Amino acid sequence: VTPPPNPEKLLAFSAVSKSLADVVVVPAGYTATVLYALGDPLSATTPAFKNDGTDNDFEQRAGDHHDGMEFFGLSSTGTPAASSSDRGVLAINHEATTDQQLSSFFLHANGGTTTLPRPAAEVDKEVALHGVAVVEVKKSGSAWQYVKESSFNRRLTALSDMELSGPARGNALLVTKYSPTGVRTRGTLNNCGTGKTPWGTFLTGEENWSGYFTRGAADDAARGNDKSVASLKRYGRNQGATSRHGWETGGADDKYARWNNSKLGTSANGSDDYRNEMNGMGYIVEIDPYDKAKAARKRTGLGRFAHESAAFSLPVAGQPLAVYMGDDSRNEYIYKWVSAAVWSAADATPADRMATGDKYLDSGKLYVAKLNADGSGQWIELSLANAAIAAYAAYKFADQGDIVVNARLAADAVGATKMDRPEWCSVNPKNGEIYYSLTNNSNRTVNPSGSSQLTPDSANPRAYTDMKGTTTQNGNPNGHIVRLKEGTGAAQATAFTWDVYLFGAEASADAGKVNLSNLTADQDFSSPDGLAFSPYTGICWIQTDDGAYTDVTNCMMLAAVPGQVGDGGKVTLTYPQASGATLAVDTFVGKKAAPDTLKRFLVGPVGSEITGIAETPDGKTMFVNIQHPGETTSQANLADPSKYTSQWPSNAGYGAGKRPRSATIVITKNDGGRIGS
Ligand code: FEO
Ligand code: CA
Ligand code: CA
Ligand code: CA
Repeated sequence: VTPPPNPEKLLAFSAVSKSLADVVVVPAGYTATVLYALGDPLSATTPAFKNDGTDNDFEQRAGDHHDGMEFFGLSSTGTPAASSSDRGVLAINHEATTDQQLSSFFLHANGGTTTLPRPAAEVDKEVALHGVAVVEVKKSGSAWQYVKESSFNRRLTALSDMELSGPARGNALLVTKYSPTGVRTRGTLNNCGTGKTPWGTFLTGEENWSGYFTRGAADDAARGNDKSVASLKRYGRNQGATSRHGWETGGADDKYARWNNSKLGTSANGSDDYRNEMNGMGYIVEIDPYDKAKAARKRTGLGRFAHESAAFSLPVAGQPLAVYMGDDSRNEYIYKWVSAAVWSAADATPADRMATGDKYLDSGKLYVAKLNADGSGQWIELSLANAAIAAYAAYKFADQGDIVVNARLAADAVGATKMDRPEWCSVNPKNGEIYYSLTNNSNRTVNPSGSSQLTPDSANPRAYTDMKGTTTQNGNPNGHIVRLKEGTGAAQATAFTWDVYLFGAEASADAGKVNLSNLTADQDFSSPDGLAFSPYTGICWIQTDDGAYTDVTNCMMLAAVPGQVGDGGKVTLTYPQASGATLAVDTFVGKKAAPDTLKRFLVGPVGSEITGIAETPDGKTMFVNIQHPGETTSQANLADPSKYTSQWPSNAGYGAGKRPRSATIVITKNDGGRIGS
């Protein structure tokens, strides 16, 4: 995409201040309005949302916890038109619900049942609140609206039928009572970051799905302590683990029983129960946003973990495509997929979009990253051709399907670098460098105890500090953004260099220990999460999901114009350890932030996380998601709206009732200019 001629100066807006107000704040000269909120009807016959806990039919309403999002243009006649800036569909993740004690309490009249068993009607509603929505949006005059009766509108929930695709399709690990041949599964769950393919489809990452499954207290023995136990434990399900919502208690029907991951049947392969059901979650899922008749496909080759975004390398004709991905859990890894097929420009407007997905996302190689102390790095292939995987003692991999389903174990086997929670990643359209937000890590410490705690290393160098740089708190509470520059071979390179682009910090924090990027009051932030380069303006948008700075400010979005890997220098951090020793860690810090390279653009309402971003190709309309406003409200206060920590968006004039709602907002510039200028 070529930017318009003589584009306005970027980051010319006045930075917004940190804020604790229950509003969306944007710079002077910009307008933000609510477009599409939790519960909004997606068909002509669905009643208006009452927002009092009595609403139903969530298969035809906006789901909850809006997260990643992509815009796909439509022509005036409703055909796919990538360059359209006044009509399109938004594909939006509905990640989760605001819950306490099992129940998604804002969605039930009385807050719902907080003990087991959960009533079927409550479970059915909660299942439908999760997943993905495709919703048409349209500009009339200067105002945007979503189109309630559009034939493009579509909901996928945690129960929708989906295809399994790629190397694990048909694998023994995916056999269930629902699909005895292991080729299908139901639902997508905890949809977090997103991606947009060069052929015009939507990618959604399944993140914290593991917590939705339960497993019996004696299940290890029931499984004969076979290798599935090692897999279940590595993905967070020890025997006896309880589920987040107790959906498995909704009734005898398989749609509830499936959430129980115990071995209950007598078959050898799992075709009579749901012992393998959890292996059907944790993928990058491809959806055709223009055609709701096409089943979603889980692209198993890209690995199974707590997925966030999926960012493509800049396509080059005749070269493979790379897809960069992160696993958002403490001490997890950075991955990339390299397609076997080479890019053909004709595939930018294919006749069959899902078949094009088959071409680029089912055959290829999966790699995991190792970031070395000297600023170099390697991509290590995860396959049986790698001796470290073939000979791994802790888990015996049967085939490539087993490797991608158990990608975390394969990455362990090759000694990849454990990171401070890799959230979104994005590729700089100017130079192809890859940026990863590492949101924070409470398990990074200079005095580790137990195997889950790690000492700081070069790529995750901060620990044992709070936001002021005193030595009172373990962990890396503020996070950082690491960036990678591919070596020879670009998308298919196996070597790269890296540095830390930015460190989250409070402006007043110690500049030698914590505020290593010299952030000022107009720039300071904590816990970067959403991160996306605009392909239209080149601005890097950084969104926060913070637990460490919310005493000072609500979560925010910043606009950045970064330089490149290696534009800063080496810094050595030293930590006194409890043993009396001194730990010294060398790291590489990008060029310090300046007022015209990093500026706060938006602050959200109370209790919200800012996540998800999409733009129209003219760069003049931006869509952003406000996730879980008011999530800090106590369920005990449900009957008293004055005690809600947020009443957004009703306090912004949107919709009925005072219960807070996740929502998509639309941002425009009053002079008609591009967003971020
Ligand atoms: Fe859904 Fe890692 O954020
Ligand atoms: Ca996230
Ligand atoms: Ca997060
Ligand atoms: Ca979230």
